[in-house]
Amino acid sequence: MKSVVIQKPNELVIEERTLPAPAAGEVRVKIKLAGICGSDSHIYRGHNPFAKYPRVIGHEFFGVIDAVGEGIDASRVGQRVSVDPVISCGHCYQCSVGKPNVCASLVVLGVHRDGGFSEYAVVPAKNAWVIPDAIPDKHAVMVEPFTIAANVTGQAKPTEQDVALIFGAGPMGLVTVQALKGVYKVKQVIVVDRIDERLAMAERSGADWVFNNVERSVQSVLEEKDIKPTLIIDAACHPSILQEAINLAAPAARIVLMGFSSEPSQIVQQGITGKELSIFSSRLNAHKFPVVIEWLEKGLIDPEKLVTHTFDYHHVTDAIELFEKDQRQCCKVLLTFDQ
Ligand code: NAI
Ligand code: MN
Ligand code: ZN
Repeated sequence: MKSVVIQKPNELVIEERTLPAPAAGEVRVKIKLAGICGSDSHIYRGHNPFAKYPRVIGHEFFGVIDAVGEGIDASRVGQRVSVDPVISCGHCYQCSVGKPNVCASLVVLGVHRDGGFSEYAVVPAKNAWVIPDAIPDKHAVMVEPFTIAANVTGQAKPTEQDVALIFGAGPMGLVTVQALKGVYKVKQVIVVDRIDERLAMAERSGADWVFNNVERSVQSVLEEKDIKPTLIIDAACHPSILQEAINLAAPAARIVLMGFSSEPSQIVQQGITGKELSIFSSRLNAHKFPVVIEWLEKGLIDPEKLVTHTFDYHHVTDAIELFEKDQRQCCKVLLTFDQ
């Protein structure tokens, strides 16, 4: 089989590898579609501190089970599945409190272990979530990015009366917009970004109001309209945004951070305690695959609004370069593996 392998930073090859046999408790998935994410590009460029090389990247993938390991019912062969990249032990403290996404021995497919940019991948059977027939392939491949929004909203518990502000209209901002509007029916969702084309995508995904914060600060625009957000989500992830969000927030608001910057954020305690703000963080997803599959079944979200390009995997280098260079035109870029 062919696999997309990052041999070392900046060295990507499509390599012929032996077809793996699923171990006990595993299934083998014949990949149909996979999505490119910022973290794939970070591993390619050597900017992910957790990555070990060589690595088959890809943690957003969908396919069909074509073999099962010991202990797994043979009736699973032929199932269409989306794969949860989060592999956890199931018994540490974090797993016992429902946070397998920060398991003491966390393994993420495509980061710590070979992932889905490959003709086949072996994965734990319990990570392979069955996709109902009514959900098309091009939606099924998008389950993982939407689980990030499901995890964010699982922490923040949006209500219809929220006034939400999202920083960043990249893929993560857009999945969050769709969850807030489509699933939680939040009254007002405002999105800010520095790129007009991305703001237009946020509108397409359901944002009520978008504006560009290059020329004017978010604070001056919101103050002019006397808007105090009750829920703020940082999907842009610059360290300066935390203090900006604290300043903007209404009393009793919730703020959710998604970023992994190693730079310090400077914040003032009084701004948090004086308004009794709640600050959450969200990493990957905790048991959110069934949640998003249900959102898709009910038609509450529309993944196609995010997909701007599809490439055959032989052109994976072009696909990643386009994804990295063209934030105006590119949002989610998919790879096909079954041609
Ligand atoms: P992206 O880079 O495509 O989008 C970020 C957007 O934020 C861009 O459109 C950019 O123009 C905008 N932006 C940057 N600074 C801004 C500012 N000060 N004000 C307004 N807009 C600003 O990235 P993507 O894929 O949407 O991911 C967003 C962030 O989420 C990344 O930092 C990524 O590392 C993180 N992430 C976190 C996950 C988690 O589970 N916690 C999962 C996936 C991504
Ligand atoms: Mn991703
Ligand atoms: Zn664990």
